[in-house]
Amino acid sequence: MFVNTIKKILSGLITMSDNIVPLFPTPVGAYEIDIDLDFVYRKITEYTSAPHFLLEDSDSSFGQDSNILEDSELADLRSKILECIDDYTDTTCLQPLDITGAWYNQMKKGDKVTLHRHEGSVISGAFYVKTDEDTVPLRFQSPLKPYKMNDLYENFNSQYASSGVQINVQPGSLLLFPSWLEHETDAERGERCVISFNTFYRAAMFVNPDT
Ligand SMILES: [Fe+2]
Repeated sequence: MFVNTIKKILSGLITMSDNIVPLFPTPVGAYEIDIDLDFVYRKITEYTSAPHFLLEDSDSSFGQDSNILEDSELADLRSKILECIDDYTDTTCLQPLDITGAWYNQMKKGDKVTLHRHEGSVISGAFYVKTDEDTVPLRFQSPLKPYKMNDLYENFNSQYASSGVQINVQPGSLLLFPSWLEHETDAERGERCVISFNTFYRAAMFVNPDT
């Protein structure tokens, strides 16, 4: 299981002590979606793509079509992703979410994703349609990094010292993460195609005073 692989990486970083507890965890969801990935790939690449400013030298449907997951032929994928989003919100006690925008990114050798977060979204996701054995991992930067101006470590083999965590992915992997959590990749060493998406609350939270 994809999530067990990630737990294994993190367990190497956990320092046990009866007197110290890790407060304020950052929830990252790791799921595997069982679906015909060849069909999904053929379908999404019918959409127009263009270079994206955060993805050096790559193609993206971002800005061309606002939500490729609204395509009726991708309804099965959309409902499987929504099930995972529901699991994430149930666990983290967030109010129910819906997908507000989805696009695909096609990365070839040398393309990289620069450090960014997803503005105007609650949680974001990356679904891996195509990867190969050389595909680079997604790296999340610790949100505590800006505050730790005076922490000098003896070694980095601890979750308290970690400034970032890399997650290896495979075809069918789905990662869900808070949209404020900054992430990036190194230059791609293989090839990958990813559907990225944003979310917002299903119920209207803000009432327009004029209505
Ligand atoms: Fe992103």
